Parts: sequence; structure tokens; C-alpha cells
Amino acid sequence: MKVLVIGSGGREHALVWKLKKSKKVDKIFCAPGNAGMGKLAKCVNLKVENTKALVDFALRNKIGLTVVGPEVPLAKGIVNEFQRKKLKIFGPTKAAAQLESSKVFSKEFMRKHHIPTAPFKTFTMFAEAVGFCNSAQFPLVIKADGLAAGKGVIIVKNIEEATKALDDIMLSKVFGDAGTQVLIESFIVGQEVSIMAIADGKTIIPLLPSQDHKQAYEGDKGPNTGGMGAYCPTDFVTKDVMTQIMDHVLMPTIHGMAQDGIPFKGVLYAGMMLTEAGPKVLEYNARFGDPETQAVLPLLKTDLAELMLASINQTLGAFPKLNWQQGSSACITIASKGYPGRYKKGMPIKGLHDFKEENCFVFHAGTALKDRKWVTNGGRVLGITGIDKNLRLALNRAYKGVERIKFNGVMYRKDIGFRVLKPTKGKV
Ligand code: GLY
Repeated sequence: MKVLVIGSGGREHALVWKLKKSKKVDKIFCAPGNAGMGKLAKCVNLKVENTKALVDFALRNKIGLTVVGPEVPLAKGIVNEFQRKKLKIFGPTKAAAQLESSKVFSKEFMRKHHIPTAPFKTFTMFAEAVGFCNSAQFPLVIKADGLAAGKGVIIVKNIEEATKALDDIMLSKVFGDAGTQVLIESFIVGQEVSIMAIADGKTIIPLLPSQDHKQAYEGDKGPNTGGMGAYCPTDFVTKDVMTQIMDHVLMPTIHGMAQDGIPFKGVLYAGMMLTEAGPKVLEYNARFGDPETQAVLPLLKTDLAELMLASINQTLGAFPKLNWQQGSSACITIASKGYPGRYKKGMPIKGLHDFKEENCFVFHAGTALKDRKWVTNGGRVLGITGIDKNLRLALNRAYKGVERIKFNGVMYRKDIGFRVLKPTKGKV
């Protein structure tokens, strides 16, 4: 079977790497992909938003399975267009992808189906939103309704910060139309965990839980990024906690979507907060997380292509129990200095051509080949994943790999896993 993976980040490289191991897969194409995937897949220069060109490519090349990495093509309805041409594609339809593409839709869905989440109110008028904040208890979380490349969630500690955030989103429209509506919700505390699960509209199978590190700097300081590192599994998600998440979040979400006439297929990613009052949903994503996927897939032994086909064919109910490698994984994001703001591109990267580290994998995101030499080409440049018997050893392995990579302006967090690991005198 020929497979097409849409996207160009570390997540997509990890997907390609894992799909390549499938006995069902003969050849992989990536659109547009990145230079690092070149050894495993053929990159084709098609933009992720160019649905028509992607459909034509899949028809012409008899693609047996298309996998969508990023949220934007899902929100635009790429799955509907592929389905119209009877092409097999893994992911939710445009209507189902609203769980991610509209925060108002997803919170109202949770309220309707009694799925635990923070209390919230929605607003379309700036003055009303400010008025609400004036009498609310801080901190609050202000969210733009639509997709905002991970930047549309702002935690505010007082009325001045709230007014500024609302002004930016609703009046200055810094996120464009994504800010036409806002959602204001209570700030909840606890351990955060990413639960990614494969759904077929009726059944849902969770992958191992993982934890992301969204802030740019150590100690969870600085601006939010796409994710600076992740590890898997999270031991604090005990069997009992996972049962609660399954019973109160994942199953009710799948059943609720089916009941509402918009069955959800693909990856349901529930960003969870484990609070004293039990697990609550912070947000849903309708796709694999990045960098979480770079940490989770290296531990998955089950054939990913078979799992995805079972989602498309609605046969997950009969799918064998997922098979996982024992131990832990840790992925460290190597970024360019300045990310998530402005950063330089084109910096020569040393240590990639001859990279060799046992049980350590390199996933490319923002890299390019220039005159056959690796250079930086993005904010998040590489993900280095180590796997080992436990988290501390997996981290040691990943950081050993990270230290081999050198470029001007290299930036990475040295404290991935800090929320669960006790400090040691030496390195992590
Ligand atoms: N790592 C967070 C996300 O993929 O949205």
C-alpha cells in the first residue's frame, strides 16, 4: 500500500518513521515533508492547504492511506474531499474537527454531554467580556474561539491583563477571525497530561499518556510554544485515573459526537488537567500532538497503519490490544534562539550527518539541505527522542543525543520531566 503523510514537522517525521515499519506499507510520500524525511519517504512539493492538489495526487498515485498531521487542513475539510473521491484518509471530517477548530463548539459540547471541564462563558462583544472580567475572580483564562497556531490561550492575573488580552483578540484581531468570539474560563490547577486516542466513530482506544512542556524556558517560564519536549508514559496517570478519563471523557466524547450526528474518527487528543476534583478537559485537539507523537510512537509496537485503517473502516471494536515496549521515552525539542518569536534560519547544523546514539532517534522539523549540508529552517528544528528502562535513563539518552547537535543559536530546555522527577546534583 502507498501512504501519503500531510505535514512537515517532527510529528510527521515520527509518523513516517513508524508507518515505514508497517508490513502493509510499501512506499510513503510526504506533502510537503522536510529534508530529514527524505530517506524514508518521497517528499512532494504540495502545500497542506491545497486540498485539490492533494486529492489529485492521491488519485493519480493510487494512495491507499492518507494521514493528516496538522489541524488546518482538517479544519478546512480535507477529509470530506478525500471521502468524496472514495480515498481512504485517517482523520475527522470538518464538522468533527470543530472539537479543535472552535473552542466555543467544544466547550458547549462538553457542557451538553456532562464532560468535566472548567466553567466558562462566551462573548462576541468586547465591552461585555470586560464587564464580566470586572466582577470575576482571577486568574482567568481567555481563549480565542478559532485556530491561532497555539497562541490563542492567554492566562490573565488582573483586569489590566484581561482588558489587554481582550483588546488584542477582539478589537486588534491579532489572531484574525479566530478572535470573533472569545471564551473566558476559570483557571484550574493540577498536573497536565496529553491523552491521544484512536477513534472510529464508535470505539476509542487510548495511546499511552504523555506530558508536554509548552513554555519556552526552564521552569515553565516564558512564552507558549508548540511544545519544547515531552515524555511518555506519565506514571501519575494510574490505572484508576485512566479509567476515569476513559469513562468520563473519551467514551462520552465519542458517544456524544455520534449522538449529535457528527461521528469522530481519527486522533482525539484530550489535553487534560488532573485536578483535586478529578480529571478535567482543558481542550481537545483533533490530531496527533507535537512533540507528544515523537515520544509516544517510539514505544508503540502495534502496526500503526493497521490501527489507522481500523479507524477508517470502523473496526476498532475488534482490534487487538495495543502492544507497547516496556520503559519510557523522552523527546527534547531543539529550537532556534528567539523561537517562538523571531529567529534566524540557514544556520549550519553540526552532528547530524554522523549522528549515532543507541536507542535515540532524530526527528526533523525545521531543517533543510543546502549544498548537501544541513541548515536550520524553522523555529523548532529537531526532536531528539531517547528510550530506556525508565524516564531518567530515557532523558539521559535523549540529552546525550541533543549534545551532539550544534548550531549557532541552539536552544533547548534542560528540564524536561522536571514536574515529576526529583532534582539530582548532576544532569537530569
Ligand atoms: N503539543 C501540543 C499540541 O500538539 O497541540
